[in-house]
Amino acid sequence: MDRLLPCTIVLLLFINAVKTDGCHKRKFKDDSFVCVCNELECDSFEPVTNPPKGLIYSYVSDRDEHRFHKDTLDPKTLVNAVTADSIKLSINVNETYQQIIGFGGSFTDAAGINIKSLPDKLVLDLIRDYFGKDGLEYNMGRVTIGGADFSTRPYTYQDDYQDLNWTHFALAEEDLVYKIPYIKIANDFSGGLKLFGSMWSPPAWMKYQQRINGTGTLIGDPGEIYYKAMASYMVKFLDEYKKHGVEFWGITTLNEPSAGGKPDYAFNCLGISPEQMTKWIAKDLGPILKAAGYGKDKLKLLILDDNVSLLFLYASRVFSNYEASQYVSGIAVHWYENAQFGFDGFDKTHQFFPDYLMLSTEACTGAGSDDPGVRLGSWKRGEEYANDLVGNMNHWSSGWVDWNLALNSIGGPNWVSNFVDAPIIVNAEKQEYYKQPMYYALAHFSKFLKPGSTRLGFKVTNPNDNVRTTVFKTDQNQLVVITVNSNDHAVNLTFEGFAENPIGLTLGPRSFRTLVINKS
Ligand SMILES: *[C@@H]1O[C@H](CO)[C@@H](O)[C@H](O)[C@H]1NC(C)=O
Ligand SMILES: *[C@@H]1O[C@H](CO)[C@@H](O)[C@H](O)[C@H]1NC(C)=O
Ligand SMILES: *[C@@H]1O[C@H](CO)[C@@H](O)[C@H](O)[C@H]1NC(C)=O
Ligand SMILES: *[C@@H]1O[C@H](CO)[C@@H](O)[C@H](O)[C@H]1NC(C)=O
Ligand SMILES: *[C@@H]1O[C@H](CO)[C@@H](O)[C@H](O)[C@H]1NC(C)=O
Repeated sequence: MDRLLPCTIVLLLFINAVKTDGCHKRKFKDDSFVCVCNELECDSFEPVTNPPKGLIYSYVSDRDEHRFHKDTLDPKTLVNAVTADSIKLSINVNETYQQIIGFGGSFTDAAGINIKSLPDKLVLDLIRDYFGKDGLEYNMGRVTIGGADFSTRPYTYQDDYQDLNWTHFALAEEDLVYKIPYIKIANDFSGGLKLFGSMWSPPAWMKYQQRINGTGTLIGDPGEIYYKAMASYMVKFLDEYKKHGVEFWGITTLNEPSAGGKPDYAFNCLGISPEQMTKWIAKDLGPILKAAGYGKDKLKLLILDDNVSLLFLYASRVFSNYEASQYVSGIAVHWYENAQFGFDGFDKTHQFFPDYLMLSTEACTGAGSDDPGVRLGSWKRGEEYANDLVGNMNHWSSGWVDWNLALNSIGGPNWVSNFVDAPIIVNAEKQEYYKQPMYYALAHFSKFLKPGSTRLGFKVTNPNDNVRTTVFKTDQNQLVVITVNSNDHAVNLTFEGFAENPIGLTLGPRSFRTLVINKS
């Protein structure tokens, strides 16, 4: 579908020659293409509807041609396509796992700065591309509490006054200009956002080291004035946003508590060990949030917000402590080590602590030194997203929240030049933006797995290492099957367990596919 102003339709008859599935393709140096959005043209999604009973809707994106291409399939005609050497997927509709909370992206200063660099119409289009019904239908958003590395300067909400009562606490211009207005638009498009906040660093004067970045620890111990003040700082943030009409679903204890324990970490951080975290929640953060009206029933407190190698460590310390555990709703995980360590940490944590939700709260490609920054049109990066999404879904995660909603063509701005990639890249000079394969990878999940969808059990026989699958049922009684084929060749897949007879499908090379089956 194309999102057009009526007066541009005639013009487009001449310029849309390279359009497929509504995508205005442009190829840069990488292995696939981006879809270009400017004031004249921008692709958008048809509403996802329930297929007629007995039929299957199939959505395909692939490296070489398609973006979210829809077909209607009749299972009767697919019975013959079952081949002996297929990968076989046996779905057990009675075996149920976690429920979905949602999908989303992050309102960073950098995202807001890039969004604001576009003309008004494109500002709305971009936000709608993420949160609208004809976009990714995101229902979640992460909000930085004060500055992060994706800011143009290091700051907190009270840098100049060493007053633990926060009498000079004030939101920054960044909140008022680059975050709150866009959060409100997103909220309108989505019909109700679940927002959560994450702080990178408290004011530098609260730390022994008196600086915002590098190794850093808070003065004193949990239970003492600095730790209490840091909890009140978070309450102040929630209260101030509320005054601007923005309410939060959750908050994380702190972004990446391991960072401040590392030697000379480059950007805003604070080190908090699992032991300190446990005591801080029990003595200060938990009670202070609760007393301020942000108890567990009103606001979800999520621990960790850091890499998977630390997941069980922090979870086991905090949840083994009766006082601390009663204030916590869940665990937030960052994706950076998932490819290296896999999802065993998710499984183990769920096995020991099944009552806490798990949520992926930060992901981006192009981080670190291997291949940094933006790669316009990289299918490989789309696959990294899709494979991590499948992994999360198959290992107890209730959702997945992306990092910066939009970056510029070098992957910034970022005050320490920690440039990375994003699903949408803004080109302010040309007044256009680019939807990357990562964006479409997300669509294959976020548009189908609505809150309340439940993961189902399945078995794979004759598996292929480069083919990943996850299966859900929605509360609309649909079965949703998502597959990622990262092979350079097509593979055949046989499904059984939901129709009368097994059906066969061919997954194209380097493709994502979502199948929606009406079970009612
Ligand atoms: C996949 O199935 C098709 C029939 O649907 C068949 O022609 C083809 O040989 C099969 N390919 C493989 C690799 O099994
Ligand atoms: C699922 O449960 C229903 C009702 O209990 C039963 O009829 C059906 O055989 C079960 N299916 C599987 C695959 O276990
Ligand atoms: C901060 O608040 C505490 C208790 O509310 C009070 O005792 C203290 O004097 C205040 N400090 C300042 C600097 O206002
Ligand atoms: C998370 O993991 C990535 C990849 O190994 C690493 O570069 C990063 O420093 C880690 N983050 C923290 C806070 O330790
Ligand atoms: C911390 O930030 C300052 C700039 O404010 C910078 O000069 C310094 O190199 C940073 N520290 C580290 C460890 O990167």
